Amino acid sequence: MTVHFIGAGPGAADLLTLRGRDLIAQCPVCLYAGSLVPEAVLSHCPEGARIVNTAAMDLDAIMAEIAAAHDAGQNIARLHSGDLSVWSAMGEQLRRLDAMQIPYTVTPGVPSFSAAAAALGAELTLPGIAQSVVLTRTQGRASSMPEGETLAAFGATGATLAIHLSIQNLGRVVAELTPHYGAECPIAVIWRASWPDERIVRGTLSTIEDAMPDGIERTALILVGRAIGATGFAESRLYAPDYDRRYRPQSADSPWAGWSDGDD
Ligand SMILES: C[S@@+](CC[C@H](N)C(=O)[O-])C[C@H]1O[C@@H](n2cnc3c(N)ncnc32)[C@H](O)[C@@H]1O
Repeated sequence: MTVHFIGAGPGAADLLTLRGRDLIAQCPVCLYAGSLVPEAVLSHCPEGARIVNTAAMDLDAIMAEIAAAHDAGQNIARLHSGDLSVWSAMGEQLRRLDAMQIPYTVTPGVPSFSAAAAALGAELTLPGIAQSVVLTRTQGRASSMPEGETLAAFGATGATLAIHLSIQNLGRVVAELTPHYGAECPIAVIWRASWPDERIVRGTLSTIEDAMPDGIERTALILVGRAIGATGFAESRLYAPDYDRRYRPQSADSPWAGWSDGDD
């Protein structure tokens, strides 16, 4: 018996990997984080599956569910929103499974920052503007931030910031980032990216707070940086006509001349 951790994506039921879908369909037990995982994803569960919403359960109760399925020889699909590598609470579950000697697999999902960027039609890394994306958050009621992981420290790099779990702290985000990015820096709030009721609010660090409509809370991502909505950036060298590269050698003297797929 195996616990399959599956990234269930940002919201739209079809933003799920084929592997994730197939694993869900094979498991007679499905535990899902109901606060964010869309119910539509559960339609892939086999008929008669035991489907448990873990939103109101504590870790002990979740592990008890897993142990019970394990004792019954049943595979489990364990669904968390987005991808599992960030803010999924998977780490603590894997540690318990290791201790219990229960095997598991991990299947990645589409993270919310990707869905948010897609909603904007934005590339977060533009030549000469930003070449790094920082996935971060601000301090919440249940989670303190390690020393050094401050918005000011990340802001000092000029990277594009994808700020999770922080819409309630928008004022603080603006105050801490304005000295680094400037009041005219673009910022966007994407609420429920990929859900049917998705909403996007664009502005600058100086305008975004006034632009926020009522009702934008909880499931929202804040993207900040000069790459958001930028148009005055250089084209990448990758597709430049004169760029000598493995797939497009520019002359017979090119180090790539005569290279074929089999050489790699
Ligand atoms: C507990 S974290 C889960 C992150 C998730 N594992 C991921 O890969 O994106 C929840 C936070 O992710 C962001 N989030 C998750 N889904 C979202 C969506 N569809 N649209 C916008 N933000 C989302 C919000 O910032 C929310 O507060």
